[in-house]
Amino acid sequence: MEASAAKSDFFVIKALEDGVNVIGLTRGTDTRFHHAEKLDQGEIMIAQFTEHTSAVKIRGKALIQTSHGEITND
Ligand code: TRP
Repeated sequence: MEASAAKSDFFVIKALEDGVNVIGLTRGTDTRFHHAEKLDQGEIMIAQFTEHTSAVKIRGKALIQTSHGEITND
C-alpha cells in the first residue's frame, strides 16, 4: 500500500465502557507514546494514521472498525 493511502485511512473506536484509553505511538525509529485520549462509554473517536502516528494502542473494552475489519477487545 502506498504510504499516503495508509495515512488517509480512517479507523473508528467506540468505547464500550468508561475509561477506554486510545494511545498514539510515534512514527519513526523512536517509538513512544505521544498522545492519550480517554473515552467514556458510547463515545466515538475517528482517527487517521499520520506522519506523527504510526500505531495506536487501545486499552479497555472497545469496538474498533478499520478497513481490515471489525474487532472487539475485552
Ligand atoms: N497530532 C496527532 C497526529 O497528527 C493526532 C493523532 C492522529 C492521533 N491520529 C491519532 C492521536 C491516533 C492518537 C491516536 O498524529
